[in-house]
Amino acid sequence: MKLYHAPASPFVRKVMVLLHEAQATDRVTLIPAAGHPLDAGTMPVDRNPLGKIPALERPDGPTLYDSRVITRYLDDLLRAGLYPAAPRLWDSLTIEATGDGIAEAAVLMRYEMHVRPEATRSAAWADAQWQKIARALAALEDRWMSHLSGPLDMGQVAVACAIGYLDFRHAEREWRSTHPALATWYTTFSARPSMRATAPHA
Ligand code: BEZ
Repeated sequence: MKLYHAPASPFVRKVMVLLHEAQATDRVTLIPAAGHPLDAGTMPVDRNPLGKIPALERPDGPTLYDSRVITRYLDDLLRAGLYPAAPRLWDSLTIEATGDGIAEAAVLMRYEMHVRPEATRSAAWADAQWQKIARALAALEDRWMSHLSGPLDMGQVAVACAIGYLDFRHAEREWRSTHPALATWYTTFSARPSMRATAPHA
């Protein structure tokens, strides 16, 4: 299988963490892909019409895209066990969506302030994205710490990859100062070999 990949993407990282946790990194070949909303670049528009990574090319079916589709597929294929049975599954999927939402808003902020032509950048728009992130971090801190500290699942992986991206691109926002329980959890989670092996870089 071929995985269209960029080392800075928190969505690619989710897939890579799953592969590391399942000890199955040898099952995919990484294909570098780079682009952004203003230019698809080398992103695989013939594989994913949305021009987004990750995308997973399979030998026996259409290319899969959207990190949640890919992780569900790989979890099933590799019997990784990162999606629990219902009813815990519903919490896990909600937490995964929360992590993905944080990552999406954080990537949009990055594009707004670094990719959009300078004259049309809106700091207010970027701040509104941060408000979404702040609400999501507060929800994790208030409601989901017990789940995050439970058996490993993709909800935890998504949150950790999103937080890793905040540290990578938005460290000046200092999310730890207002989310102490999440900060403690992340210190432990980010020490996992799967997280260490996939730390974001340009
Ligand atoms: C980044 O450089 O921040 C980035 C690269 C690819 C996907 C998302 C973010």
